[in-house]
Amino acid sequence: MGKLNVVVIGYGRSGRDIHTRLLKMLPDLFEISAYVEADAERREMISRETGKPVYEDYTALSAAAGIDLVVNASFSQDHARISKDLMKRGFNVVSEKPAARDAEEFQTVLDAVRETGKRYYVFQQYRFAPGFAKLREIIAGGLLGRIVAINIQADNFARRWDWQTVHENTAGVLLNNGPHYVDWALALMGFPENVEVFAVMDRANYAGNGEDYAKLILRAPGAPAVDLELSACNAYPGDLFLVQGTRGTLKGNESSLTWKYFKPAETPALKLDTRPLRNEKGEPLYCREKLDFYEETWNADIGDRNPHEYDFTEKGLAYYRSLHAGFLSGDDFAVKHAEVMLQMKVMGAAHAQNKAVFT
Ligand SMILES: NC(=O)c1ccc[n+]([C@@H]2O[C@H](COP(=O)([O-])OP(=O)(O)OC[C@H]3O[C@@H](n4cnc5c(N)ncnc54)[C@H](O)[C@@H]3O)[C@@H](O)[C@H]2O)c1
Repeated sequence: MGKLNVVVIGYGRSGRDIHTRLLKMLPDLFEISAYVEADAERREMISRETGKPVYEDYTALSAAAGIDLVVNASFSQDHARISKDLMKRGFNVVSEKPAARDAEEFQTVLDAVRETGKRYYVFQQYRFAPGFAKLREIIAGGLLGRIVAINIQADNFARRWDWQTVHENTAGVLLNNGPHYVDWALALMGFPENVEVFAVMDRANYAGNGEDYAKLILRAPGAPAVDLELSACNAYPGDLFLVQGTRGTLKGNESSLTWKYFKPAETPALKLDTRPLRNEKGEPLYCREKLDFYEETWNADIGDRNPHEYDFTEKGLAYYRSLHAGFLSGDDFAVKHAEVMLQMKVMGAAHAQNKAVFT
């Protein structure tokens, strides 16, 4: 059973442009055998573009049909309900993010996983982003010292008017894009159970009542402080990543990183001197020294591809390659259920602090 037989629910931006595209790029690992699409025009499009059978409702799928995985790329507000029902009907599931509306609903999904024994994966492909993997490697290498603070700024200036702008649709920027970035933040913090959340939300450029500005400050004992911003009203976005450590700093994005650091072995030890500082003439002085910084850069090997396409494709392919390997071996998948639960709790805390925004 090398090749996994997949059914995709939903043929929208995700089901068509992400999952179908990625799975077709991995023909030795996956084969899409059918689709489920509620919209008649899109069912016609599926037939035209793929030639595969298409059902109007997932309840028409038969567990006896040799389907290994069902990709749930339906509307966000239906993810949990459909994923649970699919598992109860005997299917393994890949759920698009957000996995559920909140921690409470996600717990019901985990209960279904336990009760049915089915495999359940959340499509958090950003965990596999090459730039994020490189960033973690640099941090783990220790050159930057202890990491004090991390900024993740996923900003743009863009108006939006679709169903994902409506809070009640399990949407708003934190549930739309946030699962990826909160996952990054928590991964860099080491997924601490006792994370404190301070959140500010606002509405600027979404037509619906969902937030399109979210600023989260996260902290936990022994972990770097994280400042995560998701904004739809920043036409001057800074670096996606800024990492501040005791020996150096890193900045960059998914396809390019730059970091500078000093080497403690080459640098005089830091010694406290509380006397008023003076030079040899007795004149007052500020603390001043020249730290010898080393600077390095990493640029993803993107060839003539555009950086966004490179990143988006590579992380998706890496996700599916890893899922395929784990599916066959039975090994734990990189994106663990407990980690998604923590993400749900953090996003829930952020929403609870900003209820007035959605009225
Ligand atoms: N992981 C990512 O990077 C990423 C990117 C884009 C979207 N998404 C997620 O994918 C999900 C879908 O978003 P989208 O942008 O594709 O939406 P969309 O509006 O473009 O398409 C959704 C499609 O699913 C169909 N559909 C919805 N519920 C259905 C059901 N129960 N049965 C059959 N068909 C159904 C709709 O008819 C529609 O064609 C969202 O939850 C979104 O958060 C994830």
